[in-house]
Amino acid sequence: MTNDLFDLTGEVIIVTGGGGLIGANVCRILDRHGADIVVADLDESRGSKVADQLDRGIFHHLDITDVDSIDRICNKIFDNHGQIDGLVNMAYPRTNDYGKRFEYVEKDDLMANISLHLGGYYAMTKAVALRMVEQNLEGSIVNFSSIYGIQAPDFSMYDQTEMTSPIEYSIIKAGILNFTRYLASYLGQDGIRINSVSPGGVFNDQDQRFVENYEREVPLGRMAKPTEISGAVVYLLSNAASYVTGHNLVVDGGWTIK
Ligand SMILES: NC(=O)c1ccc[n+]([C@@H]2O[C@H](COP(=O)([O-])OP(=O)(O)OC[C@H]3O[C@@H](n4cnc5c(N)ncnc54)[C@H](O)[C@@H]3O)[C@@H](O)[C@H]2O)c1
Repeated sequence: MTNDLFDLTGEVIIVTGGGGLIGANVCRILDRHGADIVVADLDESRGSKVADQLDRGIFHHLDITDVDSIDRICNKIFDNHGQIDGLVNMAYPRTNDYGKRFEYVEKDDLMANISLHLGGYYAMTKAVALRMVEQNLEGSIVNFSSIYGIQAPDFSMYDQTEMTSPIEYSIIKAGILNFTRYLASYLGQDGIRINSVSPGGVFNDQDQRFVENYEREVPLGRMAKPTEISGAVVYLLSNAASYVTGHNLVVDGGWTIK
């Protein structure tokens, strides 16, 4: 037994959306902490590239909006590793025309995106959590929400840009926070911990006007680097957080305190 509270050696962890901007960094840091990583992504080329850079990483195709795909990955991991100790839900499925201003979002657009994103997180969490219960594994699950799951967007940040924050996103991310709390309560007796991480805006070459507007509102005075979100995930998956469940860990440079 190591003295390092953050050591994840021997833990099998699935990272959905592991090929993405934040996901790739989360996979790298979990790998450095000793975990066996399953980079689970819809995009094979992005996901395999990340897995190839890891010491103990494999890529597995996954579509979190398809329950058969979810069952396939869970069965395969149990067959190969005999366990799933951790799940990080950070895939970001959306419809092709996602990102419209409120006036143009029809009810069907809303429902489609809720089904893909919130429904996908739910289905993935359910599949993994029930297998953990069945196998008596005291696992840990981390769901990605956002500062927009907690607070309303400040639309002045998008002034003079083509950008907005879609209403679906706020509804979905708020939903993720509360289903996380529900399951933390429901699965607590099984020793399963389930928490969320809510990042603030991560710099990704956005419109310069937006970046300046955003940075003015952040106490730390800048957007996050993709690498700055991973520590929260390591903490929540590790023994350092053995008595933490139902928590929402906000990683936003102070944006939500204002
Ligand atoms: N980037 C930010 O500023 C920011 C801020 C707050 C919260 N978040 C949240 O963090 C998470 C990751 O964001 P990101 O910026 O890294 O996103 P991203 O778009 O860079 O990556 C998302 C990944 O999800 C994969 N994906 C899409 N649909 C999928 C599906 N159906 N099944 C499996 N994989 C699928 C994509 O292929 C991609 O690799 C998301 O939940 C996002 O809402 C991001």
